[in-house]
Amino acid sequence: TASVESALERLQAGEPILVHDAADREGETDLIYHADAVTPEAVSRLRNDAGGLVCVAFEDAVADAFDLPFYDDAVDHPATAGHDLGYDERSSFSVTVNHRDTYTGVTDNDRSLTIQSLGEAAADPDETDFAEEFRVPGHVHLLRAAPDLLAQREGHTELGVTLALEADLPPAVVVCEMLDDRTGEALAPVDARAYADRHDFVYLEGSDVLGYLD
Ligand code: 5RP
Ligand code: CA
Ligand code: ZN
Ligand code: ZN
Repeated sequence: TASVESALERLQAGEPILVHDAADREGETDLIYHADAVTPEAVSRLRNDAGGLVCVAFEDAVADAFDLPFYDDAVDHPATAGHDLGYDERSSFSVTVNHRDTYTGVTDNDRSLTIQSLGEAAADPDETDFAEEFRVPGHVHLLRAAPDLLAQREGHTELGVTLALEADLPPAVVVCEMLDDRTGEALAPVDARAYADRHDFVYLEGSDVLGYLD
């Protein structure tokens, strides 16, 4: 729990943390920042050091306030039928977005604007006209957390949103998987830990977060 408490302090300070879900789930370690702390330098770290998909996870109530559906519910295509994921019952993917003031949406400056604005929007959903501020589709993937968070689903979506809430921050985080350029696989936990040590970042297991809540 000491490490969870330092992770909460890091998130509050706008610094990244690393969270491995579980060996019997994705077996991935995501690099996570609180969304409204994101800068162009942070986006650069996400794509260069992590290398996976850059996504913003929202609490269910926030996604609901903005009327953001799960992707598979929103798209009427036969390929959206059947959730045959190897590691969970359903994916947390919602739509993709760009802030309307971006140009292409993909640059570090553009993605930073989108992500930081999503963080600010999550802080005050009632004051946000989502469609006026953001356009769909875009270059940032939104994720929608399960309503009961870790009681329902133990993904990075729920782990990240739970940590934001425990840190008394608005329920929006940016997550990106740590990949291994050498093996072509997800970065192994031992290597993700070594990366965390090199950069003095906090590394957590999903079980640390579950234990902290008990
Ligand atoms: C989107 C993903 C990531 O694994 C992300 O961590 C969200 O998924 P989950 O909540 O299932 O862990 O696949 O790039
Ligand atoms: Ca890389
Ligand atoms: Zn994940
Ligand atoms: Zn993943």
